[in-house]
Amino acid sequence: MVASDGDLPNIAIIGAGIFVRSQYIPRLREISDSLVVKAIWSRTEEAAKAAAELAYDFSPNIEYKWGDAGLDEIIRDDKIQAVSIVLAAQVQVDISFKMLKAGKHVIQEKPACESTIEAETAFLCYNSLCNHLPYQPIWAVAENYRFEPAFYESKKLINDIGDMMNIQVIVEGSMNSSNPYFSSSWRRNFTGGFILDMGVHFIAGLRMLAGCEIATVSAIGRHIDTNLPPPDNLCSLFQLENGCAGVFVLAVSSMSPKVYWRVDGSKGTLQIERGVENGMRGYTVLFYTADGTCQKTFYPFSGVNEELKSFIHDIKQASKKELSSKHQAEPRSSYVEAARDVAVLEAMLESSTKNGAKVQVKKFQANSVENLSP
Ligand SMILES: *[C@@H]1O[C@H](CO)[C@@H](O)[C@H](O)[C@H]1NC(C)=O
Ligand SMILES: *[C@@H]1O[C@H](CO)[C@@H](O)[C@H](O)[C@H]1NC(C)=O
Repeated sequence: MVASDGDLPNIAIIGAGIFVRSQYIPRLREISDSLVVKAIWSRTEEAAKAAAELAYDFSPNIEYKWGDAGLDEIIRDDKIQAVSIVLAAQVQVDISFKMLKAGKHVIQEKPACESTIEAETAFLCYNSLCNHLPYQPIWAVAENYRFEPAFYESKKLINDIGDMMNIQVIVEGSMNSSNPYFSSSWRRNFTGGFILDMGVHFIAGLRMLAGCEIATVSAIGRHIDTNLPPPDNLCSLFQLENGCAGVFVLAVSSMSPKVYWRVDGSKGTLQIERGVENGMRGYTVLFYTADGTCQKTFYPFSGVNEELKSFIHDIKQASKKELSSKHQAEPRSSYVEAARDVAVLEAMLESSTKNGAKVQVKKFQANSVENLSP
């Protein structure tokens, strides 16, 4: 039996850009038996209306809202328990915070912030919200790589490679003029440009696989393709807190796209490579063992779907428990986790401005959220 709308969490989508139309709406349709999309917002009426039309089939009562007045209506609508924020990185933290302050749970797109300074300030304010609200709203960041089965499953194999010897992360991207995000204006007016916007995904994958934080980096960034904002190439040496070193190479646009993470160990090697199998896009996981065998598994992409499902699960749990003890939201979506991805790239970009000098990655602490009383 299908539950009535009254039992399901009501969410609003803030943003109506390419990613909302091509990813959020189709992924939300797949899980539409577990939520109601009550509203969609954009700066302009036209964009909001066009995006709402794409969701009518599974959320027939969806309202479209636009401009400052539309945003206020969403803030004041008590039926809307949660919002999904899919806007330019420059404004996301500000809008997330407005929604959190109104008691709404938030899942915002990556990158978590423009800089770690912005994140630290926002996080302090977030931690003090419980002084004004009866419960701490969830602040999640949609980092789909932490939900990709390829990474999730590989993490379980990592202990079997023995002592970690080195890590290679090679990203030869395909951000050329055929890519729908190529002309995105905010990415061109953003410190770190595509390196930061794309790079957080690859760092998230690296941190997840390594299971250990990156302590220091040294990097050289270059600007080769002047159709892209600077820098468009970054080469970095990094060292983990466990001592293991590795390289991280990111080319925003390459003629021969290739993306892989490879962890070399004393007893085996684990590699995750992006690819296509049977017409499906995803990741091939290769696990080489000491006896020379290689176990190969292909995992189609499903991270966006999984992260949204997890958020919906979290908000349902939180609303059951909001007046008593605080529900522990999925740690893979936590704001702190996503801010740590930014901190690594920020350190790499800083090192590059110092000709590759070694830079300590800023430690981003989850600090007191868990300990605050409701
Ligand atoms: C952009 O990259 C894709 C993937 O490598 C390629 O198929 C396409 O031809 C490229 N387009 C341009 C304009 O270079
Ligand atoms: C670029 O960003 C700055 C600061 O975020 C903003 O004030 C400015 O209006 C933006 N310019 C464009 C062309 O988007």
